[in-house]
Parts: sequence; structure tokens; C-alpha cells
Amino acid sequence: MIQPKKYAKATKTAPKGFKSANEFFKHVFNNKEMIWMGQNTNHLHKENEIMDAMINCVESKEYYKYPPPEGLSELKKLILEDLKLEDMDILITAGGTESLYLTMNDILEPNDNVITCDPGYLIIDNFASRFSNQVISVPIYSSENDYKLTLDLVKENMNENTKIIVLIDPLNPLGSCYTEEEIKEFAKIAIENDIFLLHDITYRDFAREHFLAANHAPNNTITIYSFSKIFGMAGLRIGSIIGSNEIINSVRTILINDLGTNVIAQRGAIAAIKSKHNWLNEITNTTRNNQKLIKDCVDGINGIFIPVYPSDGNMLAIDLKATGIDPEDIANYLLKKKIFTRQGTYTSKLFGDNYLRVSFSVPEKQVKIFVKEFKKAVEVLRK
Ligand SMILES: Cc1ncc(COP(=O)(O)O)c(C=O)c1O
Repeated sequence: MIQPKKYAKATKTAPKGFKSANEFFKHVFNNKEMIWMGQNTNHLHKENEIMDAMINCVESKEYYKYPPPEGLSELKKLILEDLKLEDMDILITAGGTESLYLTMNDILEPNDNVITCDPGYLIIDNFASRFSNQVISVPIYSSENDYKLTLDLVKENMNENTKIIVLIDPLNPLGSCYTEEEIKEFAKIAIENDIFLLHDITYRDFAREHFLAANHAPNNTITIYSFSKIFGMAGLRIGSIIGSNEIINSVRTILINDLGTNVIAQRGAIAAIKSKHNWLNEITNTTRNNQKLIKDCVDGINGIFIPVYPSDGNMLAIDLKATGIDPEDIANYLLKKKIFTRQGTYTSKLFGDNYLRVSFSVPEKQVKIFVKEFKKAVEVLRK
């Protein structure tokens, strides 16, 4: 018999009417009419250079071969140039998810602890719990701390065993983002205590302004980069991990994808960075306008509010607490209308019954359908 691991994830509860979480996903994934506002994926790219590059890769049969294990050098160079971190080292991975796992596996020792925040992206806590003694998940769902980690909160919660401070920036699910001053403060605390910042910048390009911790604490920062969001490549599973040469050399010893990352995805990623200037403004203009449509709708409904507006990500939370509506009920209601959103429990252990998370990198006409149905849903479900 296989003993469950101490960090084994609780089996995800199946949404009403489904045998398991996977059955639920199969249902939403296969429904071609579903409006996809339940994952922070990006549905705004037209047929463009990214698609052409991947088609070329298929037609040339390049995928017959294994690519270089660390990733195509052109792609590594382009990512570092994109971030202006040309002096850092980098590995291509099968997404931010793999990069997060590698970070935890590489850095943590059994007595260490890790500071994360709630709400947050819970798989990070899970990965941290596999390799450390404790995950200190700091409650941040409050306007007193602008719905994000602050230096004071970190100081209150860290101790001599703290090894990593996780900064998700912008934050999934709220869209809060750190200022340059805050990033400098976190960098300082990391250097002073000889610990690491895990800077997850998955949503960086949706932000109005964004600052890299790696510029202020290059030897103490691991940066997590993803092609799933602004580049619209979630299903291709590609990203990277960036750090000092010392850190990345250490990660090289614990790799999972020893035979490299999907070469079709890498060709798409190269084209994605090269073509970014052609489409970035159009996509962020649409996401900003879309979130304004949602904000106008929310402002017109009594008792609900958006904790962080504007969001610097491609998602926001709508707080429903005062209406007595269970976010799971409204998510199920909307699902029946073919609109996929996420109840708060997906991104919070402490505040899951406060909010619904809504992603808005979808066409404007779909956001307009959401707004109409959401308004009706609150009327129907309000207690
Ligand atoms: C904060 C954060 N990091 C990482 C990821 C995963 O990224 P990837 O698709 O590159 O594995 C997500 C996905 O939603 C995320 O929200």
C-alpha cells in the first residue's frame, strides 16, 4: 500500500452534479460555447505570428527531435532581454508551475518555513509544504494593508527559520501589485536575512507599472515567468525560471524535464516575445475596458464591491459577503448560463466565502453577457 504523503493535497471537492473535479473540467473544457472567465487565460489573440511559428514547427517536423534540455538559446536570450535581466541565468520549463516546484525543491530544507499570502495561488503553498516544515500563509484580505503583503506583515510573521518570501505580483486572485518602493523593501529584507524572494510575475504585462525584485536583490530572487497569460499560450505549457548563476546551477541538478520542453511551444514563445509590441496595447486596452464594464455593473448593485480596482492582472474579485450569497452558488448559477467563473475557495482557505473571481481577458461581447447574467444572478440568489 502507498502511504499518503504528509503534504498530500485534499482531493478537490467535486462541484455539484459532478463525480470529481476532473469530470467538472472535462465538462467545461469540452463545451465550446463556455465563456472562459474561470481561469486567468487569455482569449484575445487573433491568428498571428505565434500561431504561424507553431504551424511552421509542425510542418518542418522539428518536433521529431528532443530539443536542448535547458531550452532553445534564442528563447532564453529573448526572455532575459524582455525583462532586461541579461546578466541572470535561465532555464525553460513546462510553465510557471514547474518553475515554482523547482524553486521549492531546490531551496528548502526540512526545518525551513515559507511566507505566502491568503488569498493567493494555493499550489505554491502546496509545493512549499512538500519541502519545508511550515507554510505561513498571511491573511491579507483587508483594505488596511491594500489587499497585499506589506513589510510589516512579513516582519510580524517571519522568524529565524524563514527561507522564502513569496510575492505573487500582480496577485492572483485580487490583482494587487507592488510599488517600486515596496519591492525595494522586500529586496532589502531578503538580503539582510540572507533569504530568498520568489517573485511570481505571471501577470506582469497586464499591470500598469511593474518592478522586478531581481533588480534590487539579484542574488536573492528567483523570478517565475509564464507564457500562459499575456501571451495566450496556457495550453502549450511553457515558462521559465530565472535567477543568479549560482541558484540556476543548483536547479540544474534537480531538473524534472531532463529531455527538454515542448519544442512547438518554444517556437511559439520565441514568436510571442518578438511580436509582443504588435499586440500588447490592443490586449491591455481590451482588458482595461472589460474590467471597467464589470466595475460599472458592480457599482450598480447594492452590497457588493471589488476590493482591488483597477486590478493589475486579468482577473478581479467581487466581494458578495453582505448579500449572503455563497460564491459557489453564484458560480454554479453562471455555469448553467455557460459562464465559467471561480468561487473564492479556489484561491483562499480563509476568505473563500467572500468573493467570486472573474477573469476578463475574453472578448468584450462575452463580458457584456457576463455582466447581464451576473446582475440577474445576484437578484435571484440574494438572501
Ligand atoms: C500566480 C500564478 N503562478 C503560476 C501560474 C501557473 O502558470 P503556468 O500556466 O505557466 O504553469 C498561475 C496560473 O494561474 C498563477 O496564477
